[in-house]
Amino acid sequence: MTLIRFFLGKGGVGKTTSAAAYSLYKALQGKRVLVVSLDPAHNLGDVFDTELGDEPVKLMDNLVAIEVDYDRMIKKHLKELTEKIKDIYGYLKIFNLDKYVDVLKHSPGVEEQASLEKIIEIVRKYGVGEKAFDIIVFDTPPTGLTLRIMALPTISLIWIERLIKLRLAILERRKTISSITGEQFEIEIAGKKFKVPTSIKEDPIFKELTKLKDEYNWINKRLIDPRTTAAIMVINPETLPVLEAYRAVIFLKKINVPVTHLIVNKVFELDTIPERLRPRIEEQEKALSLAKEKLPGLEMIKIPYLEREPRGLDMLKRVAEYLSSVP
Ligand SMILES: Nc1ncnc2c1ncn2[C@@H]1O[C@H](COP(=O)(O)OP(=O)(O)OP(=O)(O)O)[C@@H](O)[C@H]1O
Ligand SMILES: [Mg+2]
Repeated sequence: MTLIRFFLGKGGVGKTTSAAAYSLYKALQGKRVLVVSLDPAHNLGDVFDTELGDEPVKLMDNLVAIEVDYDRMIKKHLKELTEKIKDIYGYLKIFNLDKYVDVLKHSPGVEEQASLEKIIEIVRKYGVGEKAFDIIVFDTPPTGLTLRIMALPTISLIWIERLIKLRLAILERRKTISSITGEQFEIEIAGKKFKVPTSIKEDPIFKELTKLKDEYNWINKRLIDPRTTAAIMVINPETLPVLEAYRAVIFLKKINVPVTHLIVNKVFELDTIPERLRPRIEEQEKALSLAKEKLPGLEMIKIPYLEREPRGLDMLKRVAEYLSSVP
């Protein structure tokens, strides 16, 4: 079974560095790893010191990386959506469907929806079957957007269930009416009559809803399974990242996504503390105790503030040493 790992946290704490180092560590151990950057402002390639893109790039034996092309992903999502709508509501040609579809581009939630679809596509393509990777690692955008993406299956499933019920009721009524009139059910729009389906089998909307329900159930089952999925919170030893992580963990618990580790990155470890840095070190200690108090269930891993930016495989190996306990 392919493992799925999400590295989450506030902007700039070290999600990409940790995700890259973890991926490298596992690849060196012989696991086949795919690391995927879902962040619209990619920096996975910068961290690996290699140019990455929408197509998988092999970084070394067992390690492949992708930086998802955001524009392409959103365009693809909208194109598919438009085709579906035109397919289903093609009989509404009298109305200018394009105008409505155009509104979709600017509607809220498009980014999250498109990202979730991308995650599903990647897990389907690289996490199932004989050629599946052992681990898929997601480097994510800062917390807010990521949480909305991860909650989408749960929220959408509640919605879809209701829409399915509504759709069934509509079909049932149509069927009753056509059984009374003895004719195929018709609706009238702008003076024209259109035959519309009365049974589940013929109804494209019911089919679409069921397909979505299956798809979201499929991904949600993986996202909430602790045997497959782990969300790893990354913070710095400062109050704000701790508080944000605390809220994120509460949220993830609500949607049943397993959170296992807390990486405290960029910890000052100094033999002698210069006077000027003393308040900073005190704040660090406070933040560390706050993290222990607020996030007691997570295994804490500390990574020191390194003397150089951890870029390239050699530096990443140094970070990786700290991550050996993450399965
Ligand atoms: N342990 C560390 N020691 C020193 N510098 C670090 C350490 N970890 C990360 N950095 C540096 O901190 C910066 C932010 O790291 P990174 O890009 O991994 O964070 P991020 O959470 O992915 O950021 P973003 O939210 O922008 O995607 C980078 O310049 C990185 O090289
Ligand atoms: Mg990043």
